[in-house]
Amino acid sequence: MRKNIHDDIERILISEEEVDAIARRLADQINRDYADSSRDLVLVCLLKGSIMFTAQLMRYINMPVEVEFMKVSSYGSGTQTSGIINVQLDIKRTDLGNVDVIIVEDIVDSGRTLTKLMALFKEKGVSSVKTCSMLDKPSRRVVEFKPDYCGTEIPDLFVVGFGLDYAERYRNLPYVGVLKPAVYEKAVKRNI
Ligand code: PRP
Repeated sequence: MRKNIHDDIERILISEEEVDAIARRLADQINRDYADSSRDLVLVCLLKGSIMFTAQLMRYINMPVEVEFMKVSSYGSGTQTSGIINVQLDIKRTDLGNVDVIIVEDIVDSGRTLTKLMALFKEKGVSSVKTCSMLDKPSRRVVEFKPDYCGTEIPDLFVVGFGLDYAERYRNLPYVGVLKPAVYEKAVKRNI
């Protein structure tokens, strides 16, 4: 029998209701900030982690909005910000001249991904680019970075759920929870 993923969670860090409140609050800010713009508003959902948060956020945006998907991986060392960003899946829209972009993330960790993506979108010539993240782990920062719209700061815990994974699992949890150490300790022992 398949196991119940909730059993692998030590405790809930951010409940479904809290995630929903975060999405509403950030969408309200976006609704206010972009109310007077005549440009197309494009949310860029960074796969895979931000699928659930993007979906939750866009439900509360009350103006026309497009959604694009992007998958990147980012490498770097030390404080190097100009490291490699590997675009595995790019957005489909090519006409970016008259566009306000908001990149949506599940979590900011080292800060590398969003720092590099901001630079990439500026190179593409978008009118404006901002970032929106459900979670922020400032204690893990390697490069200086602050998301424009930030849900909540969290300590350096092993969190999964609401899009965040461990070994590609647990993304479907409807809350953000702390993974039981036994789960990843067992995996390390098995070398997976
Ligand atoms: C995670 C997360 C962010 C990024 C944050 O993605 O979803 O995109 O790392 O890290 P950074 O601030 O150190 O750059 P991951 O590469 O694990 O891919 P996933 O979204 O498919 O899980």
